Amino acid sequence: MDLMDESTPLARELVSETRRREKLRGRVLPRPPQTRIMTVSNQKGGVGKTTTTVNLAAALATAGQNVLVIDMDPQGNASTALGIDHRAEVESIYDVLIDDLPLADVVAPCPDISNLVCAPATIHLAGAEIELVSLVAREQRLSRALSAYAAERERRGLERLDYIFIDCPPSLGLLTVNAFVAAREVLIPIQCEYYALEGLSQLLKNIEMIQKHLNADLVVSTILLTMYDGRTNLAAQVAAEVREHFPEQVLNAVVPRSVRVSEAPSYQQTVITYDRSSTGALSYLEAAAEIAQRA
Ligand SMILES: Nc1ncnc2c1ncn2[C@@H]1O[C@H](COP(=O)(O)OP(=O)(O)O)[C@@H](O)[C@H]1O
Ligand SMILES: [Mg+2]
Repeated sequence: MDLMDESTPLARELVSETRRREKLRGRVLPRPPQTRIMTVSNQKGGVGKTTTTVNLAAALATAGQNVLVIDMDPQGNASTALGIDHRAEVESIYDVLIDDLPLADVVAPCPDISNLVCAPATIHLAGAEIELVSLVAREQRLSRALSAYAAERERRGLERLDYIFIDCPPSLGLLTVNAFVAAREVLIPIQCEYYALEGLSQLLKNIEMIQKHLNADLVVSTILLTMYDGRTNLAAQVAAEVREHFPEQVLNAVVPRSVRVSEAPSYQQTVITYDRSSTGALSYLEAAAEIAQRA
């Protein structure tokens, strides 16, 4: 098949992907002037929060940025995808939040990606939502742990972190509140399906409350359209609607529904390491480049 013959849809897609890849090749991403702390949030489950967290983190780390992922979901899916041990007996973000264990004691390196570290979540985190209620400074615990960790890295002569991604559980409880208080930016993944916008106004209201009472600096900086199915009109309609409402925030990059993306976690991998040449990896690399450019 002549790849430059753009007369069939498949050939056109191949040509377009090759062009997109060319654009990314050899691109050096600027390091942000200070650590960017992004909380990946949407109280809906299954919209791509964890997938987005680990793949953006991997994309930025493989581009040379120093990245930390905080797994704040008791399910520990981000820990799994990054190949980080999160069996019940492992010291985890639970111990940091509840028992004031230093974050430096629980952070583990991702085995496949240098510059990428992760604070794992274990099943104990499921109880933290309730245990946090009676603790002092219950909303600020993650924020304080991150500040102490930054100081500890400096003391140990480690490089400053460029990005911290916090993977939230699908709820708006105290774990998510801790993430909002610790972060400067919110990244909302939106699944291009019918109910996508439902619940978004609730999420935005909650963020407004946080801005008013707990963290005036918090901004919804980034929206990423995920699981886009180009064959349906619905996906295109939802995408257009989200872009109309949030023209500044929505990234140009769109993550398609892709088997490689969903397969990667079962090999304790991100799609960036599992199949870097796949279309899903390409989209996450593009999204990461856009985020870095927007700093
Ligand atoms: N772009 C994609 N293509 C195909 N499957 C995806 C894609 N993004 C996520 N998934 C799958 O959808 C499910 C939910 O994604 P996940 O990131 O775990 O959502 P959340 O963290 O919001 O609950 C997972 O099984 C994941 O592998
Ligand atoms: Mg998740």
